[in-house]
Amino acid sequence: MGGAWFETVAEAQRRAEKRLPRSVYSALVAGSEKGLTVRDNQAAFEELGFAPRTAGFSGKRELGTTVLGQQVSLPVLISPTGVQAVHPDGEVAVARAAAARGTAMGLSSFASKPVEDVVAANPQTLFQIYWCGSRDMIARRVERARAAGAVGLILTPDWSFSHGRDWGSPRIPERLTPREMLRFAPEAITRPRWLLDWVRSRRLPDLTVPNMSEPGGAPTTFFGAYGEWMQTPPPSWEDVRWLREQWDGPFLLKGVFRVDEAKRAVDAGVSAISVSNHGGNNLDGTPASIRALPGIADAVGEQVEVLLDGGIRRGSDVVKALALGARAVLIGRAYLWGLAANGQAGVENVLDILRGGIDSALLGLGRGSVAELGREDVIVPAGFTDAVQPRVG
Ligand SMILES: Cc1cc2nc3c(=O)[nH]c(=O)nc-3n(C[C@H](O)[C@H](O)[C@H](O)COP(=O)(O)O)c2cc1C
Repeated sequence: MGGAWFETVAEAQRRAEKRLPRSVYSALVAGSEKGLTVRDNQAAFEELGFAPRTAGFSGKRELGTTVLGQQVSLPVLISPTGVQAVHPDGEVAVARAAAARGTAMGLSSFASKPVEDVVAANPQTLFQIYWCGSRDMIARRVERARAAGAVGLILTPDWSFSHGRDWGSPRIPERLTPREMLRFAPEAITRPRWLLDWVRSRRLPDLTVPNMSEPGGAPTTFFGAYGEWMQTPPPSWEDVRWLREQWDGPFLLKGVFRVDEAKRAVDAGVSAISVSNHGGNNLDGTPASIRALPGIADAVGEQVEVLLDGGIRRGSDVVKALALGARAVLIGRAYLWGLAANGQAGVENVLDILRGGIDSALLGLGRGSVAELGREDVIVPAGFTDAVQPRVG
């Protein structure tokens, strides 16, 4: 499949757009309301410059690191996403690709594949949960992930159930009934390669979320789980601490944006946080996560591992995040475009693009390893982080 190879994440996205039915593609574009945050997540990286070196440094570069107790071959992890209907192999393909490229897989509790299958494909799997249902139900999901062999837990509390996008939201049915299939057919028929993938798999996207199902119960649908989540009051800091106590391994709190909350996360006993605005899918108008990173890394970087997600599309973005204090980054849409464009090989392709970009930025900066990166490697324009210092009083 030589012709299926692509050289940038932007090209993977173009191919994904061509290959996926419109509603599936726009579910991945996602974002909320006006898309201010989605835009800033990428635009903010463009504001950061590099301060390159020319001579006098080693010819070898080390990209590997440890994060969340995992040895990884590059400082890029898979961020959890519900990838319903993108590809028949879904998260299993992503997990295989991550394993093949030596990195860890974050699995969403709203994913389309069971945690057992994903851990089998990549033993470095971290299971992500939303605060959804009672503590007992949450504890059962955690127990299942532990029994399956997940090596870490991710809690994602940042979600505000915003609906409505200025560019339109895709219609996602509760189930693919014959009537829904008929409604969807004109869209699908224009995407024969996507359709063929599903025909070959002898299945249809079933829009269920197997990791949310109760043992022995009927498969939970995406919307069934979403409805339950909407009814659940958001977690208190006491709940965060409680959940952390249910898990004795690495625990990542994903979605921290404020310095005061980063400190509370430390108090709650988490091992890591991800500075994140949920890829711009949560509260629109939140600035790019990279703007919040330096302040948070300064405040808690000595106590917990600080990660970042949001807007990573190239290796140089990863290097900028590391220079500003992140230990590693998580990627979302970048690998989803790869998965849509070419399944497992497409995700491997994306990880290779990022690896190549990191390596080349390290070379340009005269750094022998990702661990050597520091603030002096990037040029941060005046005011870059101002947007994230709320004016009080
Ligand atoms: C389609 C889609 C689905 C997502 N689903 C989840 C999810 O189930 N759990 C979660 O913690 N984050 C979810 N996210 C957020 C990602 O984990 C990550 O924070 C975000 O995509 C990072 O931004 P990026 O896409 O610019 O890399 C989702 C993001 C997208 C685009």
